[in-house]
Amino acid sequence: MEETIFSSTHTRIAVVTGGNKGIGLEVCRQLAGNGATVVLTARDEAKGAAAVEKLHGLGLSSVIFHQLDVTDASSIARLAEFLESRFGRLDVLVNNAAVGGIVPVDDPSFGLLPTEEKFSGMDGHQRIEWMWKNCRQTYDAAKAGLKTNYYGTKNVTEALLPLLQSSSDGRIVNVASSFGLLRFFTNEELKRELNDADSLSEERLDELLGMFVRDFEAGAVAERGWPTEFSAYKVAKAAMSAYARILARKRPALRVNCVDPGYVKTDLTRNSGLLTPEEGASRVVAVALLPAGGPTGALFDGGKEASFV
Ligand SMILES: NC(=O)c1ccc[n+]([C@@H]2O[C@H](COP(=O)([O-])OP(=O)(O)OC[C@H]3O[C@@H](n4cnc5c(N)ncnc54)[C@H](OP(=O)(O)O)[C@@H]3O)[C@@H](O)[C@H]2O)c1
Repeated sequence: MEETIFSSTHTRIAVVTGGNKGIGLEVCRQLAGNGATVVLTARDEAKGAAAVEKLHGLGLSSVIFHQLDVTDASSIARLAEFLESRFGRLDVLVNNAAVGGIVPVDDPSFGLLPTEEKFSGMDGHQRIEWMWKNCRQTYDAAKAGLKTNYYGTKNVTEALLPLLQSSSDGRIVNVASSFGLLRFFTNEELKRELNDADSLSEERLDELLGMFVRDFEAGAVAERGWPTEFSAYKVAKAAMSAYARILARKRPALRVNCVDPGYVKTDLTRNSGLLTPEEGASRVVAVALLPAGGPTGALFDGGKEASFV
């Protein structure tokens, strides 16, 4: 009996957003395989339940489902209440849920969601080039990109902060992207501000995102030095990384890090990636399970700390 109590208090409690497919599902599988109790969340109840069923079928009985739409405040509040009453703490939050911020266009020779074989013989650049040629950047998709990828991540994080603070080793892992690097910004002042984690505030980040939306609507993205291709996705990911750095500064007891999973074959990349979801997720899980007392406010790429620029 004593042993049960001991092990349950030392089992990591992890939440993964967007856990029903792609990298998120694999992160759930690998965290559970490493002994964590995993709350697999998904915005769609049926898809989430099916994903949990799949993991139970692999013998991973420590995975449970809870609904979470990261853009819905009441859904976020319900998850926080559930975690509070069930566990009273949270050890690992993996902010994985995201959308592309673009509208995919059907390529007749590839299809809307091509099989991975369609990309054989193409290198990474050619595959990204294909994705860029076969999408449209619209105002609505850009707004949805910011709403999910930046504000959704931020709002989930804020709601779960008290529970993470109740952990003896609270960790936040944001699934970042090489597309979120500041090298895609040509406005040097913007780049400097976003990279100045010591001075940047959440209020200023909100102002900058407001400017981006206005510039996008006015067709002034290139002229004002924002990333021009996959603009909203890149801006939202850059803002998410900047927010992680602000949070790391404000909450030194937590480990708040970002990790690039690499270019992965998922629905988001229309199966064009070079890595499997398993490979991409293993990079995320490695950061989630870093030894205690490690870096905070860092970006990891390929197993090493990397520059945000
Ligand atoms: N694939 C890559 O090459 C790559 C590279 C760098 C970074 N990333 C990042 O890796 C993460 C996972 O992407 P992925 O490639 O695995 O994409 P994916 O297969 O399209 O999965 C995205 C997940 O996010 C969920 N989601 C979207 N909007 C949501 C919302 N409002 N609330 C809750 N969940 C929501 C989706 O749920 P539904 O099924 O309901 O849509 C899905 O579970 C993302 O943060 C992405 O930016 C991916």
